[in-house]
Amino acid sequence: MTNKTKAMIWAIVATVVFIVSGWLMLRGATSSVTFPLNTLSPHGVKADYIQTLTYWVFGIAAVVFLLVEVAIIWMVVRFRAEDSDEEGQNEPRQVHGITSLEIGWTIVPAVILAGLAVLNVNTILKMEDASADAIEVEVIGQQWWWEFRYDTNGDGEVDIITANQLVMPADHDVNLKIQSNDVIHSFWIPTLNGKKDAVPGRTHPLVLQSYEPGVFEGQCTEFCGLSHGVMRMQVKSLPEAEYEDWLDIMTTNPDDPSDADQIAGQELFVQQCTGCHQINGISPGDEDPAYTPIPDPDYGATVGSALSAQNAPNLTHLMMRDTFAGSLLALYDEPASPEVMNPGIPNTNNLKRWLRNPEEVKPMDPENGQGMPNMGLSEEQIDQLVAYLITLK
Ligand code: CUA
Repeated sequence: MTNKTKAMIWAIVATVVFIVSGWLMLRGATSSVTFPLNTLSPHGVKADYIQTLTYWVFGIAAVVFLLVEVAIIWMVVRFRAEDSDEEGQNEPRQVHGITSLEIGWTIVPAVILAGLAVLNVNTILKMEDASADAIEVEVIGQQWWWEFRYDTNGDGEVDIITANQLVMPADHDVNLKIQSNDVIHSFWIPTLNGKKDAVPGRTHPLVLQSYEPGVFEGQCTEFCGLSHGVMRMQVKSLPEAEYEDWLDIMTTNPDDPSDADQIAGQELFVQQCTGCHQINGISPGDEDPAYTPIPDPDYGATVGSALSAQNAPNLTHLMMRDTFAGSLLALYDEPASPEVMNPGIPNTNNLKRWLRNPEEVKPMDPENGQGMPNMGLSEEQIDQLVAYLITLK
C-alpha cells in the first residue's frame, strides 16, 4: 500500500467519523427524550434565546469556514506541483506587503467579531428579563442534592422547603436565587436555560420559564466531590391550577399516621432521623430549630426558617416528589409527569435499599458530614419507617 493510498483511507475514515458524529448531534438536537440533557432542544424562552444565538454563531462560522476551505482547495489544485515539473516551475508569483489585502484581512474579522458581540450582548441582556409577577425560589446546592425554598405569601418567611424537584407553573417566569451551603455547585436545566454556579457566600440569579407543562431534567455541572456525577435535579412544570393545588398541599402538614406500623415508623423517625431531617410538625425543636444557616448576607430574612433541618432534605411532603437521594432513585413505579401528582405505586424497594445502606447506593462520606450515614436499622425498623414515609403526601 502506497503512502498516497494510506492517506486516502485515513481521509475517508475521518470524513465518515465527522459526518456520523454530526448526524448524531443533529438527531439529539431534535429529541429531549433520547437526550434529556440537551441544550439544543429548548422548552422555554431562555433556552430558545440560547439556541437562536448558537445557530447565528455557528451559521456565521460555517460561512467563514466554507470560504476559507474553498480558497484552500482552489490554491492546492491550482498550484499543485506535477512530478514532471522542473524545480520552481508552476510556483505562484511571490508577493509581499499588498496594502489592500492587509487592510482587508484586518477589517473583515473585526467586523465579524463586532457582529458576534452585538448578538451575544443582546442575548445576555434578554436572559435577565423576568415579568413583574415572577415567582421567586431560593435554590441551595448541598452535597449532593438541591434544596428549593418558597416564600409563597411574600412575608419574607420561607413556608415550603423541598428537595430535588423544583415545582413551578408553566408559562410563568420564575426567579431563582442560587446559593450553596458547602462547595461550588452549578445549577443546569439545559432545556430551560444555561448553567449558573452556586457559590458559597453569594446569590446568583437565574430566570426559568417553560412554554408547556413538563418534566425537565438537570445535572450539577461543577465538580463538587464524591457524588457530583449523580447530583441530579428535575423541574416539574405544572398547569397553573395544578400548581395552586401543589402549593395548598405543600403548606398543609400531612395527615397523622393511622396504623401501628406507621405510628412506630413515626416514633422511629423522631428518634433516629430528626438530627438531620425535618418533618414539619413532628421534629423536636420545631419551635427552636437547630438549622445550619447559609452563610450569605443576602439570606438574612430566611435564615430563621423553622422548616430547615441540618444539611439533609426536609421530608414533610416526601411523596409529593418523584425522586429522592439527589434525584438518583425513583419514589414511584411510574415516571414523573405533569399530569399526575403521585404516579403509580410507591417504590418501597428503593426506599428500603436506601435505608439499609445509603453508601451502597451512592458514594458519600458520612464520617465527614457528607451524605447519609448507615443507621444500622433492622429490617423491621426499615419496614416501619417506609410504612410511615409513604404516608407523607
Ligand atoms: Cu454539586 Cu457537582
